Amino acid sequence: MSANQKRNYIAMIVALCILLIFGVLLIVKGGTEPGEFPSVESLPPAETQTSVPVLTETEPSSAASQADTSAPVTETETETAEAAETTMPAVPAFVSTNGNMHYDKGHIYLRINHSKDIILRLTGGLAKSQIEWSVSDSSIADVSDGTIVGLTKGECTVTARYENDVLEIPVTVRELTVVDNCTYVDGILVANKTYGLPEDYDPGTLPITEEAFSMLCEDAAKEGLNIYESSSYRDYQFQVTVYNSMVSGYSKEYADAYSARPGHSEHQTGYTIDCNTIDTNFGSTPEGIWLRDHCHEYGFIIRYPLGRENITGYAYEPWHIRYVGVEYATEIYEQGLTLEEYLDIDSHYPDEETEDTPAEDMPEEDAEDEE
Ligand code: DAL
Ligand code: ZN
Repeated sequence: MSANQKRNYIAMIVALCILLIFGVLLIVKGGTEPGEFPSVESLPPAETQTSVPVLTETEPSSAASQADTSAPVTETETETAEAAETTMPAVPAFVSTNGNMHYDKGHIYLRINHSKDIILRLTGGLAKSQIEWSVSDSSIADVSDGTIVGLTKGECTVTARYENDVLEIPVTVRELTVVDNCTYVDGILVANKTYGLPEDYDPGTLPITEEAFSMLCEDAAKEGLNIYESSSYRDYQFQVTVYNSMVSGYSKEYADAYSARPGHSEHQTGYTIDCNTIDTNFGSTPEGIWLRDHCHEYGFIIRYPLGRENITGYAYEPWHIRYVGVEYATEIYEQGLTLEEYLDIDSHYPDEETEDTPAEDMPEEDAEDEE
C-alpha cells in the first residue's frame, strides 16, 4: 500500500469514527435541527449525570450574574440566557471613580479601521449626552460620542468623563496582515470560517504545540488526570474526507456546526489538538474541567467555548485546544474571550453572511497592505 493510499485509508477510518460518535450524540440528544447549534438545554444537564461530577458554585460565574441589576439602567445590551451560560471566566468590568459609569465588556480589542460602540451602563441620573470622551493617544484610536475607531496598531486608553467622575478603559488596536495567503492578526495565524488557509499549507503538528501539550499532560498526570491526544494535525485532503463524510452522513448545516470546510480547519494550522473523547460531556469530566481552567498556562485556549457558538461559528467543543502562546492564552482566558473577540475578527462563510457583517471583513487577494 502506497503512503498516499495508507493516509486516505486512515482518513476514512477517522472520518467513520467521528461520524459514529456524532451519530451516538445525535441519538442521545434527540437530534439537532439543521443550521442550529446544539443548545445548552439540549445537552444532558450536568446535575443529572451520574458518571460525571456535578458542576459546583466554584465554576466561573457569568458577567451577567455579576452586573449590578438593582441600579437603574439607561443603556445596556441584552444578553441571551444562552450567552450568559458560559464555561469561561467573567469578562472584567470597569467602573468610574464616582461609580456612575459602568463598562461591562472588558478591555477593548479593535482592528485598524474597525469601530465599536462603547455602550455604558449609567446610574445616578447621568445621561449619555453628558459624557465627554477622549483617548490617551490620538494616533492609535479616535473616539467620538462613544464610538471608537482603530487607527494604528498599539495600546491606548479611552476615557469617559462627567465632571469629576472618570471611567478609563484600556484599548488594543490590532493589525491584520496576509502573508503567503495566510491571515495573521498581531502575529496569530487565523483559521476560521472567514479566513482560510491555502490548500498547500502543510506544516504538520508544530514542535511548539507538541512540547506544550506534553508538559500539560505531564502536569495533569501529577494530579491524577489522564489527558491524551485523540487527534491533532489534519492536512487539507484529510479535512476534505472528514467534512464530506459529515455532510453525507448528516447534512451541510450539521457539518458546518461541527466540522470546518477544507482549508478552514484549525487542525491544518499545526497548532491544534483534540483531547480525550469527542463528546460535549468531556467538558464536565475532571479532565475537561482541568483543561478549561489550566490549558492557558501552557499556551492553549479552549477554542470553541459554550455559549459563544455564534461568535466562533462552531458548536461547543471542550476537547479542541489551540496553541497561541502563554501570554496571549492567559489574557484570552482572563478576559473570558474567544479568539474572534480577542482579535476582533468574524467567523462566517460567505454563504452564511449576515446583514450586519461588514464586507471589509472578508479576506481579499491583496489584503496584505489593507491594514
Ligand atoms: N471541529 C473543528 C471546527 C474543525 O473541524 O476544525
Ligand atoms: Zn478539533
